[in-house]
Amino acid sequence: MSSEEETSQTSSSPSSPPPSCSSPPPASHFIGKKEDIVKAGRVTKLVNGCRDVLVLHHQGRLHAMDMRCYHSGGALQNGDIEEFNGQMCIVCPWHKYKITLAEGEGLYQAVDDPTAKPLRTYWRSKGVKQRIHKVTEVNGDVYVTLNDSSEAVDSDVYQTERYRTVLLKAQPKPKPKN
Ligand code: FES
Repeated sequence: MSSEEETSQTSSSPSSPPPSCSSPPPASHFIGKKEDIVKAGRVTKLVNGCRDVLVLHHQGRLHAMDMRCYHSGGALQNGDIEEFNGQMCIVCPWHKYKITLAEGEGLYQAVDDPTAKPLRTYWRSKGVKQRIHKVTEVNGDVYVTLNDSSEAVDSDVYQTERYRTVLLKAQPKPKPKN
């Protein structure tokens, strides 16, 4: 690979080999320098004037997803990253929902037999709940291409203009720390 060619990393397909490219893909949006994102760990950005996106760097990979949690709009940029059932997840700081970084699936623990002692739990997926976007790195610059699939994803609810202009402003502001 020449110095002109950097790898692209896509959070939605971690197992497939990243394609090489020397220019950002069409319809991509510049997020920042990779070194700054790696240093910060995570950044948020309003992309294309319409979508709040969280871009994070974890274990050498870049991921991008809708910034607000599909459950109730929690601020995922403040969530911890942990592994559940072999999948890396962001844990929403509001109600601890687990969302896979790769696919945006909501994971939960199910109990097959509530009368069994001790209780045995199993990890299950609710399916894709958080919209995941494509991340591309070109020569140290990081770009996001919005996932414009017409299939509705639960996190879309918190990306509407109405939510941004009306509902978000009505939320209580966090108290400043002393
Ligand atoms: S808002 Fe994220 S778990 Fe409730």
